Amino acid sequence: MLTPEFVNSFREAAPYVNAFRGKTFVIAVSGETVRDGHFASLAQDINLLASFGLRLVVVHGIRPQIEGLLKQHGLTRRFHRERRVTDPPTMNIVKQAVGLARYEIEALLSMGTPNAVIHGNQLRIAGGNMLTAQPLGVLDGTDMQFTGLVRRIDVQAITARLEAGDLVLLSPIGYSPTGEAFNMTMEEVATHTAIALKAEKLIFLVDGRGVISLEDKLISTLTAQQAEELLASVPLKQDVAAYLPYAIRATREGVPRAHLVSSKEDGALLMELFTNFGNGTMVARDPLVKLRTASIDDIAAILGLIRPLEEQGILIKRSRELLEMEVGNYSVLEHDKRIYGCVAMHAYPDSDSAELACLAVSPERRDAGFGEMLLKHVEYQARTRRLKSLFVLTTRTAHWFVERGFVEASPEALPEGRRRQVNPERGSKVFIKTL
Ligand code: ARG
Repeated sequence: MLTPEFVNSFREAAPYVNAFRGKTFVIAVSGETVRDGHFASLAQDINLLASFGLRLVVVHGIRPQIEGLLKQHGLTRRFHRERRVTDPPTMNIVKQAVGLARYEIEALLSMGTPNAVIHGNQLRIAGGNMLTAQPLGVLDGTDMQFTGLVRRIDVQAITARLEAGDLVLLSPIGYSPTGEAFNMTMEEVATHTAIALKAEKLIFLVDGRGVISLEDKLISTLTAQQAEELLASVPLKQDVAAYLPYAIRATREGVPRAHLVSSKEDGALLMELFTNFGNGTMVARDPLVKLRTASIDDIAAILGLIRPLEEQGILIKRSRELLEMEVGNYSVLEHDKRIYGCVAMHAYPDSDSAELACLAVSPERRDAGFGEMLLKHVEYQARTRRLKSLFVLTTRTAHWFVERGFVEASPEALPEGRRRQVNPERGSKVFIKTL
């Protein structure tokens, strides 16, 4: 059944489709995701992303594949400081594990589905010697042998493949100039690659939904700083704890957004990328919510916010012309470039009190604290202009203002210029907040 929600979702998604075209995304997929069969539905969504003209790099892990093969061959695993010690027999296993994971991924990405493969264009996958490694060396007396670190990413080679429209699939193996292969970690490779390619996003697919707070709630957005504090104070799931430091590092080194998204929930990646609030955790370099002075280009959005409230009689009617004239008095609240709220402050000559008016927040975001932010913003503006108080005229939302420090006052308290304009039939009450 077709519903109006479809239209809303489509309108929400479309700007992202446009914004992401031609941008580079690095997607990190753990070996567990591949082993447990969760890559199949992801592969379809990745095909879809490719069809939108995104440049995609997929980096895969191989930990469980290595573990399985070690067991089969009766070899013992050895770790030091949470890194595997890769001796020559283990390195042989590592190479086989890469084969297992890589061919599985290539097969699933090649699977034709009517939705994903657009006009019969098969997604091409590129790989090769794009990573140079260096040995990790001896760590407090333990020779890590073929365990390696990223030394260099061949940006030119990867970019050439991306420009040709290929998806680049990277395994956590790098080669040294001496012709040896080294075993690296998926998260290190993914992060270095995202930074080196100046990617738009680094995405880690995780077992759960993302970062979960002590109150058992999903944390949707974090700054690098907040993520760091969280790492130090909240016990996190193993994979989240492992990836979050890399997400932080990527955003500190120029990647605008790093995401943790469920690998198991069908469509989670699409929900994260094509909705405003996503459904995983995002570590963002730049603040998402912005308050700024409105411009003439915002009039349509402001009208969209206030018309429904005018129809309910909560706000008084304002014409487009009036808005255009007074637009400099308005501020808008943007979340990820979309306008969710507005407010106006009208000052009166010869008065040290200003009016707060036309406060509106879009219904779908009523609980996000946007109303408070707009109020605080106006209070701040009023203080910087050395005003002594703010007043509102309201018929229906008195309680909201009273809860935030406004007290009822007589209309006599209004500045002269405002008193003359009051429409007595509306029966508005006056509330004042001293700053
Ligand atoms: N779809 C947008 C993006 O991919 C916003 C995602 C927001 N996600 C979040 N977990 N807060 O950039």
